[in-house]
Amino acid sequence: MTESSFLLVVFATALLIIPTFSLGKHSRPKLKSENKVAIFVFGDSVFDVGNNNYLNIGIEGKANFPPYGETFFRQPTGRFCDGRTIPDYAASYANIPYWKPFLDTSYQNFTNGANFASAGGTVIPGDNPITLNFGTQVGYLQQVANLLNETLGHTEAQKILRNGIYFSSFGGVDYMYYTSENENATESEQLEFVTTVIGNFTYWIEEIYQKGGRKFAFQNVGPLGCQPEMKQSYNLTGKECYEFVQTLATLHNNALSNMAIELERKLSGFTYLIFDFFTTLNDRIQDPAKYGFKESNIACCGTGTNRGTGCGRTTAYELCSDPNEYVFFDGGHPTESCYSELGELLWNGTSDVTWPLNMKQLYELEIYSADDGHFIDHKVIASSLISHQDIASY
Ligand SMILES: *[C@@H]1O[C@H](CO)[C@@H](O)[C@H](O)[C@H]1NC(C)=O
Ligand SMILES: *[C@@H]1O[C@H](CO)[C@@H](O)[C@H](O)[C@H]1NC(C)=O
Ligand SMILES: *[C@@H]1O[C@H](CO)[C@@H](O)[C@H](O)[C@H]1NC(C)=O
Ligand SMILES: *[C@@H]1O[C@H](CO)[C@@H](O)[C@H](O)[C@H]1NC(C)=O
Ligand SMILES: *[C@@H]1O[C@H](CO)[C@@H](O)[C@H](O)[C@H]1NC(C)=O
Ligand SMILES: *[C@@H]1O[C@H](CO)[C@@H](O)[C@H](O)[C@H]1NC(C)=O
Repeated sequence: MTESSFLLVVFATALLIIPTFSLGKHSRPKLKSENKVAIFVFGDSVFDVGNNNYLNIGIEGKANFPPYGETFFRQPTGRFCDGRTIPDYAASYANIPYWKPFLDTSYQNFTNGANFASAGGTVIPGDNPITLNFGTQVGYLQQVANLLNETLGHTEAQKILRNGIYFSSFGGVDYMYYTSENENATESEQLEFVTTVIGNFTYWIEEIYQKGGRKFAFQNVGPLGCQPEMKQSYNLTGKECYEFVQTLATLHNNALSNMAIELERKLSGFTYLIFDFFTTLNDRIQDPAKYGFKESNIACCGTGTNRGTGCGRTTAYELCSDPNEYVFFDGGHPTESCYSELGELLWNGTSDVTWPLNMKQLYELEIYSADDGHFIDHKVIASSLISHQDIASY
């Protein structure tokens, strides 16, 4: 090999590294300070800020009564929490107001995004037909896209949609329903169901991509088997968790990571993060004192051995005096205190809890520049450089 062709190979190899580098910390196109990033929130009760208040469903599917909301909003909002939840913290860090539910009919122009999440929301429509499943929520995104296009024009609307973050929390409810009917399923049957859930989830992510979405934040499924509600219904004591549903969550989270890697390969400009809700919450459940909590097996609010059910809606529910001491507010949902720690980890945590980026990095990534009116697409830029080199090497 001659010296010059050797250098060419080195140079071409260096160029091959560019796609990785362009997603790295330093050479990424940075968001211009005057541009705000919208956040579009999809999911279940972990992200619902009151959409279910507007649905014709029973009280079990709602959280619009006391003591929900007692710590921060000082009134129930529909959040399954005593205060703010992870999407609220994400909004604060992104400098946008706390969420109103999308279904709230008071004026919203959606330039900051929208929250479509619905407690009980599933990926597979048939799993729970009475709340807003992922497909329904993506339909609402289309309504928002149409409205932005009508009010701001195509270019501005595309700028919001391309630079926006699509933040989702899905799967948990599908696995809770599956568990209630298939508790004896073998691991390969479980895996088959996980594949179906991930297959449908992927379909809707690709739909969002078609509408302009490029920046995705996936919160994975939490440690379902360790929730006070589960411990109570399976008569588990102490730190014991219900392993069946815990396995489903783990299988799902592995499949979710693989899905994201696949989509990054397949879809030009697709960027993502996975926030490890499972591990960050499980750490606090297993060792509450380390994170400033006193109790993680029993919820702050509810009835039964673990106060696992009925918060605010049975005549004799119990309520703790200081939710800050608890990891869980009700049997299935963390306290504001816990969510505030997780929200910070999502925003600026290290790659052991949010990978390959954290939300701050995803936020600052500029996909569409309105000034020159064209898309910045890392992979297209990188691959055009590579093919340029390939041609030069002939
Ligand atoms: C949208 O509403 C926000 C306040 O909620 C306001 O600051 C912004 O100017 C509005 N944008 C448009 C285009 O109306
Ligand atoms: C956006 O609105 C324009 C009219 O302002 C219309 O011609 C166009 O079809 C709309 N685009 C989409 C994607 O809805
Ligand atoms: C699971 O198996 C147990 C005992 O083997 C049985 O009692 C139970 O009915 C089974 N559950 C379902 C949903 O088939
Ligand atoms: C979506 O879910 C349905 C079950 O509701 C299943 O039959 C179908 O195979 C799933 N789609 C994919 C792409 O996995
Ligand atoms: C839990 O204990 C209660 C009362 O002791 C019993 O009725 C129930 O069947 C048990 N549930 C399970 C899943 O073992
Ligand atoms: C994240 O931000 C908070 C303040 O908002 C700060 O206290 C903390 O040190 C930051 N963590 C990292 C890893 O940068």
